Amino acid sequence: MLVRAIAGNATYDFASDVYAGLTQPGQKTLPSKYLYDDVGSALFEVISRLPEYGLTRADERLLRRHASEIVDSLATPVAVAELGSGSGKKTRWLLEALCRKQRTSYYPVEISPWALAQCERELSDIDSISIVGLEREYLAGLLEVAARRKGVQNLFVLFLGSTIGNFDRPAGMEFLAKIRRILRAGDSLLLGTDLEKPSAQLLAAYDDALGVTAAFNLNLLGRINRELDADFDLRQFSHVARINHDARSVEMHLRSNRRQRVYIAAAALDAEFMEGETIWTESSHKYSANEIVQMAREAGFRCQAQWVDEEWSFAENLLIAE
Ligand code: AVI
Repeated sequence: MLVRAIAGNATYDFASDVYAGLTQPGQKTLPSKYLYDDVGSALFEVISRLPEYGLTRADERLLRRHASEIVDSLATPVAVAELGSGSGKKTRWLLEALCRKQRTSYYPVEISPWALAQCERELSDIDSISIVGLEREYLAGLLEVAARRKGVQNLFVLFLGSTIGNFDRPAGMEFLAKIRRILRAGDSLLLGTDLEKPSAQLLAAYDDALGVTAAFNLNLLGRINRELDADFDLRQFSHVARINHDARSVEMHLRSNRRQRVYIAAAALDAEFMEGETIWTESSHKYSANEIVQMAREAGFRCQAQWVDEEWSFAENLLIAE
């Protein structure tokens, strides 16, 4: 079952965010959440299979190996809410382990209806599961799941794939604290976090040889053309991945190959780009395992367990709301 988005004006929000990001003084920016339309979500699925990008495979390996242990640590019965489920592929191991113990309500929360439909197709064969997809922003979706919880049921929230890394550090902290405020003591959060690694490995992961990440990034301009009636010439922009050592992040930018003007009709904006000027489209922050324990504590969680992948440094963190 799919609960569709509450009618809002998505095009208006997109146009105002694009206007704000391209007219602010200094560095031009576009919010990374707009990378994920249908084309962007499909390209991200491909990225997650690239040899250079080990993050998703590490997440999947940890979940596959430790699913029973994770589920055995939970105070059942639980309902499961997954923030940003994507295709749902990596969640199968946890849900299968849980469904062996109890009938399970699973609520994937996603802004992409394409990903929600895919997730439902991927997981609906599991015995004893009921799936209710919520087409919502993360916190709005989690609030709705909390409102639907029954009696003694605890919530088990999944925020996997290091999506938290796409927030800057203070915003990531604030997001954890907001999740905690929606939960009750004893609820749990499984948080996937990509850990720090050498610059060369990160640059290859975010600028792969096939050019899929470049296409993923450039698609944001394609999306603005399609949805906001703009005239970006995608061949006149190039994908750039850069390490920000101070922020301990990898940044994605789109660099203008020449001086040019672009008209974005739905935002009533005539934007000018200098040769070499960039639009900053995403940051992917990397963590140390200790830092996660600290962040969890500040947000009102106790870190009960951490599992770290040996091939690609990535941690699965089981946090219990205190
Ligand atoms: C979704 N998120 C965790 C990915 C990341 O690694 O930051 C998005 C991504 N951007 C480029 N490649 C993958």
